[in-house]
Amino acid sequence: MKLVIPKERDLLERRMAGSPDAVKRLRDLGFEVIVEAGAGAGAGFPDAALQEAGATLTGDIAEALGAADVVLRVRGPAMEDDGWEFRRMRPGAVLIGFLAPWQAHERIAAYAEHGLAAFTMEFMPRITRAQGMDALSSQANLGGYAAVIEGARLFGRAFPMMVTAAGTIAPARVLILGAGVAGLQAIATARRLGAIVSAMDVRPAAREQVESLGATFVEVDSDEKHQAETTAGYAREMSANYRQRQAGKLHEHLKRIDVVVTTALIPGRPAPVLVTAEMVADMKPGSVIIDMAAEQGGNCELSENGRTVVKHGVTIVGDANLAGHVAADASALYARNLVNFLTLMVDTEHRLLEPDRDDEILKATLVCRDGRIVNPVLAQKEAS
Ligand code: NAI
Repeated sequence: MKLVIPKERDLLERRMAGSPDAVKRLRDLGFEVIVEAGAGAGAGFPDAALQEAGATLTGDIAEALGAADVVLRVRGPAMEDDGWEFRRMRPGAVLIGFLAPWQAHERIAAYAEHGLAAFTMEFMPRITRAQGMDALSSQANLGGYAAVIEGARLFGRAFPMMVTAAGTIAPARVLILGAGVAGLQAIATARRLGAIVSAMDVRPAAREQVESLGATFVEVDSDEKHQAETTAGYAREMSANYRQRQAGKLHEHLKRIDVVVTTALIPGRPAPVLVTAEMVADMKPGSVIIDMAAEQGGNCELSENGRTVVKHGVTIVGDANLAGHVAADASALYARNLVNFLTLMVDTEHRLLEPDRDDEILKATLVCRDGRIVNPVLAQKEAS
């Protein structure tokens, strides 16, 4: 079984879909691991460390892809240059990564047409057995941490209260919008740095978690909150009435806030716009907004994906890859998620790829196979 880890082609992507530790584990599962030279450079894994762990390095990725049974990526191979990368893969070969199933529809269709068996990590079900494979959570957790560090770096003042002989520095006020995995880690990080932290979420279950981390929960007064959570634990899109109430509350609260980290997402939908241009204009000059949802359209009306802009004196960061700021840890955790996931597909005794077509985790994450999009969620979206 040949497993290939290419370099990420997106120049801004520092993470790697592997690590020296993962290479060892993959070899234990029976894989021959082939890594493109330089693939770990952005994550701080030198070629020598990967080689020492048992990987074979290659400078000819096109050839390696042609022989691969499995290809691991952080982001799905692109359509640019006629999609040369995935088109080198053999029909029937397995591709695993964050394939952006909601956004990159054309790409997924091209993978399907090429006959790949593509699995996307975004669709990992939130069941106990899949926790060690939950790459959205492992990356969101580090992203939430990195967002606060970035916010603190850009904010021209200190986070903790300091009483000094030269005077007292007031603590920074940090607001976290969306208290899921990224948001809870952002709260914990901002608290550790000494800020006064508040948070908002549509799911009422978030209150207890927010408060247990020492932050204040900003609640929107509406009965609709009781229907805000899906059975999968994600948020629903809220009604116009709820959004209006939330906006009123948020507008007032933001006037006192120094740093905002926004993390609000709704699977399969554009990110909800929570911070409007009008609200930004009313924030204190020098404030900072880190919009972790920038890639999904942004929680702030003025954020730009992949860019940092200053509007009304407020610095707005639309960095789509905050986990990449801590690329070594993010890669190590992601690689471990991938190894755990691959254990579901391998018959270790016979050293064979033998995916169980009835396994609920594999069924949920498989997007295409045998020339067609097979994922029920995507197929339903395509039909509608
Ligand atoms: P997410 O990344 O989809 O969204 C982030 C947060 O934004 C969520 O808390 C969501 O409620 C919130 N949000 C959405 N729309 C909003 C709006 N209009 N205003 C304010 N907030 C809004 O969600 P994430 O972080 O992936 O997790 C959601 C839940 O799932 C959490 O309770 C988390 O603890 C839980 N979870 C459960 C797992 C398991 O059981 N294995 C694994 C990971 C997470």
